[in-house]
Amino acid sequence: MTVGNTTTQRSADATATGAAVDIEQVAVRFRTKKKDVTALRDVSVRIEPGEFVAIVGASGCGKSTLLKLVSGLLRPSSGQVRLHGEDVRGPRRDIGYVFQRAALLEWRTARRNILLQAEMRGMPKAQARQRVDELIAMTGLTGFEDAYPNELSGGMQQRVALCRALLHRPPVLLMDEPFGALDALTREQMNVELRRIWRETGTTVLLVTHSIAEAVYLANRVIVMTPRPGTVAEVIDVDLPVERDYGPTMSAPEFARATGRIRDLLGATTTAE
Ligand SMILES: Nc1ncnc2c1ncn2[C@@H]1O[C@H](COP(=O)(O)OP(=O)(O)OP(=O)(O)O)[C@@H](O)[C@H]1O
Ligand SMILES: [Mg+2]
Repeated sequence: MTVGNTTTQRSADATATGAAVDIEQVAVRFRTKKKDVTALRDVSVRIEPGEFVAIVGASGCGKSTLLKLVSGLLRPSSGQVRLHGEDVRGPRRDIGYVFQRAALLEWRTARRNILLQAEMRGMPKAQARQRVDELIAMTGLTGFEDAYPNELSGGMQQRVALCRALLHRPPVLLMDEPFGALDALTREQMNVELRRIWRETGTTVLLVTHSIAEAVYLANRVIVMTPRPGTVAEVIDVDLPVERDYGPTMSAPEFARATGRIRDLLGATTTAE
């Protein structure tokens, strides 16, 4: 009974204060013929609108599973997931999703790959075209609108994927290792661009990454997870200014503190495994 009351109370709070994402005591168990896997256990995270939150943790600790819960592609075995105070019961249309690989259709140009999102949603054509133009300009793809994916660099392909995810102005953007396949320099440039785009759009971002530096540069909070079964080891507040020039940020004392703390936690949790 007490648990029930607490849940109702938290739900009311989430609605009242409008938490963008509210994950409450979630567990995920996968049952396969061979074995049962507990991917997540007792995970509670609350993300306010407009926050940029990064998730780091060992391979297999349940990071992608967590994003799937938020998108409604997966239901928790126990616990609750809410988007803007509303229970997530099935796939949500009000999110954007960017994967590690751009997953573009080879036979469509950059522009038409982005427009796919509009077609799936039945957006009015004129409105969609105008939005595509805005996004192409915002992500520096001007001049490459009519190029096919195989004519674009890896970074450009990820920009197209980002445009496609942002087309419908989703209040929540989920990114699962979006820059993992890029070289170090392109990755840095994409980090700078993503931070700028996040500030321009005001969208809430939940980003999974294996790069500690990327997590700290981009995010306002970093969720550090333990190895499987994934739980939240610690949530790190990143106390860096909103304006983050790349070079100066890398050498800021706060950057060293936050990355050091995350490295300690990941090292400690890996040893414990
Ligand atoms: N559909 C599924 N059926 C069975 N087990 C699954 C399924 N999806 C994920 N798992 C298991 O759940 C655990 C967490 O998987 P998940 O993909 O969330 O990890 P991850 O943290 O994203 O890892 P990585 O960093 O390698 O991408 C893993 O042990 C994985 O084998
Ligand atoms: Mg993953």
